[in-house]
Amino acid sequence: MIYVLGSINADLVLYSDRFPESGETLVGNDFLLNQGGKGANQAIAAKKAGGETVFIGRTGDDYFGEFVLRNLTENGVKLHVKKEKGTFTGIAMINVNSKGENKIVIIHGANGFVNGEELSFLKERLTEKDILMLQGEIDAKILKSAAKTAREKNAVVIFDPAPVNGALKGVIPYANFITPNEVEIMSLTDGAGTEKLLEMGAENIIEKRGSKGVNYIGKNERFEMPAFEVNAIDTTGAGDTFNGAFAAALSEGKTIKESVLFASAAAAISVTRKGAAASFPKREEIDEFLRKVTVK
Ligand code: ATP
Ligand code: RIB
Repeated sequence: MIYVLGSINADLVLYSDRFPESGETLVGNDFLLNQGGKGANQAIAAKKAGGETVFIGRTGDDYFGEFVLRNLTENGVKLHVKKEKGTFTGIAMINVNSKGENKIVIIHGANGFVNGEELSFLKERLTEKDILMLQGEIDAKILKSAAKTAREKNAVVIFDPAPVNGALKGVIPYANFITPNEVEIMSLTDGAGTEKLLEMGAENIIEKRGSKGVNYIGKNERFEMPAFEVNAIDTTGAGDTFNGAFAAALSEGKTIKESVLFASAAAAISVTRKGAAASFPKREEIDEFLRKVTVK
């Protein structure tokens, strides 16, 4: 089983040719209301890529909460989600320009209430056969405890330190895989880079490099994998697709390299479509994509 402890947001996505300047009001060209949040996104990406997934988190007691949970359920993700009375569901305000680049502001809302209750749920269930996926959108102390518990049970921990903050450093020694982008690596290591991340206890670093692909650094192996060439229109959630598909592949017993290839294909497909979770590919699409590129 793949357990995902993390955030769930309502994504308010505004598309415009360019980003507005400070103080400018810009007329955009499209709007989408999507389920988002790095935790929920990764749970859906993993499920669509073929994994059995449980999402653990909180929503507010509001319309957005019902909306986002419906999407998870419709995608076959099992839920352990509490409705937090008197607060709102996490929100992401996302602006996407014509190059597919984004700027995002998130408000944690109910995600900030994830606490020991969720940890107890995990503690009772995690076994050595399971994977635990974590990201940086819930409290770092909870993340650290969850990762510690998972390691005690010999479950595999995949940690995405995004959005980055200094408190996330404490999770690094408990993660089997850490999946930062370059900005996150620099922030976590105070500018020192991946070797420092290894010194800080990272076991396997999967550096996500956008259209440049992936740089993998493990104790016994290192490799670079270029990204697939596609026409990117919206990269929101590319990292989440990657992580979800990577977890699904690992849970099937694929090697790290095979899992990175599978995840890169899933992420490449996702950037050709608008939105985060709505853009994640199904297993058949990933297999088909990989069949086509292998044949070439
Ligand atoms: P985000 O937080 O915006 O979801 P991230 O920084 O965690 O993203 P990225 O490096 O942007 O993650 O993307 C993850 C992976 O998705 C990349 O390593 C690559 O394999 C794939 N990818 C991203 N952008 C592109 C692109 N333009 N073309 C092809 N593949 C891409
Ligand atoms: O990684 C993309 C996600 O980050 C969006 O869905 C948004 O909700 C933010 O959490």
